[in-house]
Amino acid sequence: MTKRILALPGDGIGPEITRQACRVLEACRDEGLDIDIEEAPVGGAEIDRSGVPLAPETLEKAKSADAILLGAVGGPKWDTMPDISKRPEKGLLALRKELNLFGNLRPALLYPQLVEASSLKPEVVSGLDIMIVRELTGGIYFGQPRGRETREDGTRYGYNTYIYDEHEIRRIGRVAFEMAQKRGKKLCSVDKANVLEVTILWRDIMNELAPEYPDVELSHMYVDNAAMQLVRAPKQFDVIVTGNMFGDILSDAAAMLTGSIGMLPSASLNEHGQGMFEPCHGSAPDIAGQGLANPLATILSVAMMLRYSLNEADMAARIEQAVGAVLDQNLRTADIAYTGTRQVTTEEMGDAVLTAFNAA
Ligand code: NAD
Ligand code: IPM
Ligand code: MN
Repeated sequence: MTKRILALPGDGIGPEITRQACRVLEACRDEGLDIDIEEAPVGGAEIDRSGVPLAPETLEKAKSADAILLGAVGGPKWDTMPDISKRPEKGLLALRKELNLFGNLRPALLYPQLVEASSLKPEVVSGLDIMIVRELTGGIYFGQPRGRETREDGTRYGYNTYIYDEHEIRRIGRVAFEMAQKRGKKLCSVDKANVLEVTILWRDIMNELAPEYPDVELSHMYVDNAAMQLVRAPKQFDVIVTGNMFGDILSDAAAMLTGSIGMLPSASLNEHGQGMFEPCHGSAPDIAGQGLANPLATILSVAMMLRYSLNEADMAARIEQAVGAVLDQNLRTADIAYTGTRQVTTEEMGDAVLTAFNAA
């Protein structure tokens, strides 16, 4: 049966990078993948069109799609909107919540060709292959109560609630343990259990799950130390599991180890294997519209879509190999370019990936 893909380009560099990723999807279709691709606006683009960041009809299309490809949302044009619940980012958060996409996989993989693009020394990063499993529909991002208010004396204050229940922790824990079983069998749970009760519970649940996965070595680390260890000796990690906000921050740090945040794809999955696939980076307003954006994180997100939602592991591997081949040719967008490589535009990078994909 034809699988339905919903493409949501969004804002800033979103449309540029999504275009290149859709070309790769179209190439898969030409190779026999039975898909139908539909596009819709989201985020700031949708605010400008209809006044809300996620139109009800787009949410319905997302719910019935087999997989979603998202570029990025947000930008300075909408950053001054006083009500945060109406901003572009809310469209993305609503998609995650409404589709119950609690399991966010963020693989920080250093392509050997990019060792020199990393901000760390080659001996510290070469061979790096970390999977960050980030909880995506709970924690401080969604906890109630939340708000901004003013006391009687005129003092303004703001507050959010960092809350997880044991079911939410257990289900992301299982995703992470299973991921570790398929990889290097090491799982590091990152928390702040020396300060925050919610993460004492997090640690307890991870420990309770551990006997069910005797082949996985579980360790715990405080988030401040984890941030430090990621830049000190990142290869000590195999799978990291953590909550929504810590995972957001640590995955941007891990991205830089791979050369650029423009290299980090992601999958956000629910219990049925339905997923949304997006680069980990944002809409990069500073480089939007200039052909400077690296489309590889989005193209690699298509590979994750094929692997995790469409059951097409071979086609996924073919995309990843095409990315490797392009890097072998020394082609680089500005973010990963260095002396001795050839700088290309977003579209030229897409062209090169397609050529390599079709040649395979
Ligand atoms: P950002 O990730 O957009 O940009 C950070 C830096 O990385 C910038 O210098 C940018 O030029 C660079 N960069 C990002 N992606 C790149 C790519 N593909 N190629 C080359 N360089 C790239 O983060 P920010 O500046 O903090 O946020 C900008 C906007 O994006 C904000 O509105 C934010 O809310 C939003 N955002 C959206 C998402 C998402 O849609 N998933 C994720 C993060 C941030
Ligand atoms: C990400 C982004 C989002 C997040 C924002 C845009 C809501 O930073 O996907 O990493 O914080 O999850
Ligand atoms: Mn982020």
